[in-house]
Formats: sequence, C-alpha cells, structure tokens
Amino acid sequence: MNNYKITTLNDFIILKQKDFPYAKGELSSLLSHIGTAAKMVNKKINKAGLVDIIGSSGEVNVQGENQQKLDVYADEMFIGSLLSSGECCGVATEENENEIVFSDSFASKGKYIVCIDPLDGSSNIDFNVSVGTIFSIYRRLTQRGEKVNNEDFLQKGSQQVAAGYIIYGSSTMLVYSTGYGVNGFTLDPSIGEFCLSHPDIKTPEDGSIYSVNEGNYVHFPEGIKKYIKYCQELDKESSRPYTSRYVGSLVSDFHRNLLKGGIFLYPENRTAPKGKLRLVYECNPIAFIALQAGGEASDGNCSLLEITPQSLHQRSPFYVGSKNMVRKLQEFLHLNR
Ligand code: AHG
Ligand code: MN
Ligand code: MN
Repeated sequence: MNNYKITTLNDFIILKQKDFPYAKGELSSLLSHIGTAAKMVNKKINKAGLVDIIGSSGEVNVQGENQQKLDVYADEMFIGSLLSSGECCGVATEENENEIVFSDSFASKGKYIVCIDPLDGSSNIDFNVSVGTIFSIYRRLTQRGEKVNNEDFLQKGSQQVAAGYIIYGSSTMLVYSTGYGVNGFTLDPSIGEFCLSHPDIKTPEDGSIYSVNEGNYVHFPEGIKKYIKYCQELDKESSRPYTSRYVGSLVSDFHRNLLKGGIFLYPENRTAPKGKLRLVYECNPIAFIALQAGGEASDGNCSLLEITPQSLHQRSPFYVGSKNMVRKLQEFLHLNR
C-alpha cells in the first residue's frame, strides 16, 4: 500500500489557516496565487535554451543592470498573479523603479502589499545554474480603498506577515513562513502541485560552509577578511577549515546553507559600498526565513529585520545563516571596527 501522503501547498495553507481564528483566507489566497505564478515561471525556465527566453532583453533596469528576458517574464507573471488575487493592493519589484499601485476597485481594497525579486541570480540563467524568486508580504499601513503609498513598502523586516522563496533547481521548491516556522514544498511536475517535502525546517546552529564571493576579498572590511582567514584555519574542534561554496544565486546559496548549516556573506566592498543585495526584497525575506528556522541575519551592525528602509532599492551588507556562525562573524566585525 502506498503510504506516500500527499499534502499539497493549498492543502497546507488551508490547514494552517485554522491556526488563525480570525483569518478570512486573504493571506491563503495570496500565497496560493504566488504558487501559481511560480509554476508558470518554472515552466518557462525549464524550457530556457529551447525557446527564445534566454539572454538579455536589451533593456537596463532601475539597478543599472542588464535585464534578462526571464527577469521581465517573471516580473510580469508575479505582478499579474498578485493583481488577480484581489488580496494585494500594490507590489514593489526589483525590475520597477517605483511601487506598482493596483487601482482597480477590486485589488485596491487588498489588505496586503508584496515586495518581490522576481528572478534572483539571473546572471546565471544562460548557463543552467539554479535561480530563484524571493517574496515578502506586509499588511498595508494605509486604509483599504485608499491609494497605497511609499511608506507601505518601507516597513521594517520584522513587520513581515509572510516571506518565502522559490528555487528553480534540480527540483523546484517553494519555501515559506507566516511567522510560525518554515515549510518546504517540492513541485511534482506529474501532478503540477507543490507537495510538502520539508516540514518544519530548522537550520543547524553550527555549520561548516561559508559562502562569499572571494573575488572581492581585497576590498572587504578588515573584520570580514579576518573571519574568512578564521574559516580557512585548521581547527579539529570546530571542523575548520570550512568548505567554501558559492553559486552566485542568493536563493541557491541560502537554501543549501539553511538545510545543511552555513553562513552567507555579502559584505560592502569598493564596487558596492553599501553591499550589493537589496534590503526590501532580498535581505528581509531571506532573513525572516532564517530567523524562523532558528538562524540569524545581520547587516554587521544590528539585526537586519530592525532596519527601517529609506528607499525601495536600498542595498545592505548581508550576513545570514547558522546562529553561532553569524555571531562569530559579528565578534570579528566588532573587534576590527
Ligand atoms: P539578481 O539576479 O536578482 O540581481 O540577484 C543577484 C544577486 C544574488 O542572487 C547573488 O547572491 C549575488 O547577486 C551575486 O553577486 P556577485 O556576482 O557579485 O557575487
Ligand atoms: Mn536577486
Ligand atoms: Mn532579480
């Protein structure tokens, strides 16, 4: 008898909705629409190379970065799906300079706003390296029916109602949290459903993987340089030297470290004086997941979720992963200010 009990993402969302006595299903519907857009993007990514979807769109985005065709496609898919949910009144995405306000009578009454990196790691697409999507959900601050504005999108990461990511890798997974733990769902293409595969993810307090682009080493702050040397020194007790693993897609590097234990570092450096990663739609949602799984996240000075964003595309140094590894890094930063 097959004892493979299938819990689909929608089953799980509805099941967990019961934990919220006053829930009316709005967040459930929003999460379900994100899952639908993820399946559509996944289908396109799986065909990249066969259909005309790889390569540059020829446009430069607000970040001054070459926009890939899949960046644009993913952006459109997620925006369209969020609009049709009716639960979201506006979206801030990496690919748009300003927030997108949903003004139709239905969506403008939505209770939530979403910040999203529609395609993370896009420089890797043409070379068949895993990429992802990162999303962050907040309750709006403005009244329902009012025009949503910038302050709705510049809330501290600790105000997130939910956050998650999709990793389009050897299998496609959706990992999310609504503040009550972290759960992972693997897409079963034969039935077109995300199925619960990684219930209640907890990240190891220690790990032996450090992930950083060592090509920028000479420009790192002294404390980061000293921490990297610490990772490379021989020490039997702390299983050093650690292993260096760096894919160049935040979602891939984070997801591996979340499950195995490890630390991801993107420090400020000469070419990125405030760091490269964006606080609102990369650092905050990943940090939310990390903390929910028992890990930590910092910008080197404070807990990342306590930073009040000043602008949508604001960048931040980013250190995230196993609790004891992030704390050890902070010791090095503190000693070498
Ligand atoms: P995006 O593709 O959304 O712009 O994000 C790319 C980011 C992140 O995914 C990754 O960790 C980082 O860029 C890698 O940067 P480097 O190539 O400078 O190491
Ligand atoms: Mn990104
Ligand atoms: Mn991106």
